[in-house]
Amino acid sequence: MSRLPIIIDTDPGQDDAAALWLALAHRDRLDLTFVATVAGNVGLDLTTANALRILDAAERPDMPVHRGADRPLVYDLEIADYISGPDGLAGAGLPLSSRAAHEEHAVDALIAALRAAPAPGLTLCPLGPLTNLALAFRLAPELLPRVERIVTMGGAIGLGNVTPAAEFNVYVDPHAAAIVYGCGRPIVMFGLGVTLQALASHDQIARFRDLGRCGRSLHGMLTRPRPGGFGTDGHPMHDLCVIAWLLWPELFSGRDCFVDVECAAGPQRGRTTIDWNGRTRRAPNAHVIATVEARDLFERVLEAFARLP
Ligand code: BDR
Ligand code: CA
Repeated sequence: MSRLPIIIDTDPGQDDAAALWLALAHRDRLDLTFVATVAGNVGLDLTTANALRILDAAERPDMPVHRGADRPLVYDLEIADYISGPDGLAGAGLPLSSRAAHEEHAVDALIAALRAAPAPGLTLCPLGPLTNLALAFRLAPELLPRVERIVTMGGAIGLGNVTPAAEFNVYVDPHAAAIVYGCGRPIVMFGLGVTLQALASHDQIARFRDLGRCGRSLHGMLTRPRPGGFGTDGHPMHDLCVIAWLLWPELFSGRDCFVDVECAAGPQRGRTTIDWNGRTRRAPNAHVIATVEARDLFERVLEAFARLP
């Protein structure tokens, strides 16, 4: 089986870490070209440092990390350190890396990778605000056909998590999300409707602790004390779903829909309005995932993490 070339664009973030490790555990199937960072859960310096810490834990000093956008396109940056902790990786117990990020900006690296992409192109996996992708698509629209697919965590069918209307990633940079959802390439969307189902069971969480460094670190992040969190019942691993879908799409189900992004300031900012029942008759711009078989998902994730350091 040939390996799928992917780029992960990320703002680590605990669930971003889980997604990165899952991709690294499946080198046999996923060809991770590089990691791009963006400001989101915490500021860009921290998300970049965290990407390096996560790669170090997996013993992948060869994997380039490219720093991307340090703020959204229009709005001021709002972070989620009240969820992810002051450094973005609360509970991980990972040391700082001695490695530095690559000197090339993530947006330039994305454009260069698309230019060099073999047919049918690259799969982009954004796990944070969509700022880097939007900038690349605006700077080099002629390369859009080289994007095979965008598989992304963001948005919600129902209620939001950062406001009643909006999920964090889309709320932070709705203008970027609107550009990406309007880009015309295939999109697979993982909103809160599905990712809040992606909870490991109590016994599965405990089994991560008995694995290697990455499993132990994930256990620490899953069970860290957190205001409004679930304690030893774990926390949702939103971004993990993106990589899991690339590996095991049979665990998920969804529907092609038209997704509209609200950019205006106010109570609806960042809302994704999903035309689940085709009321608007607008052509679908995304495949919206709605369900996941969570127990099977985490059994497979445990098997994958058993292969990591
Ligand atoms: C999303 O926001 C971030 O805090 C998480 O990493 C995830 O990408 C969930 O709303
Ligand atoms: Ca994220």
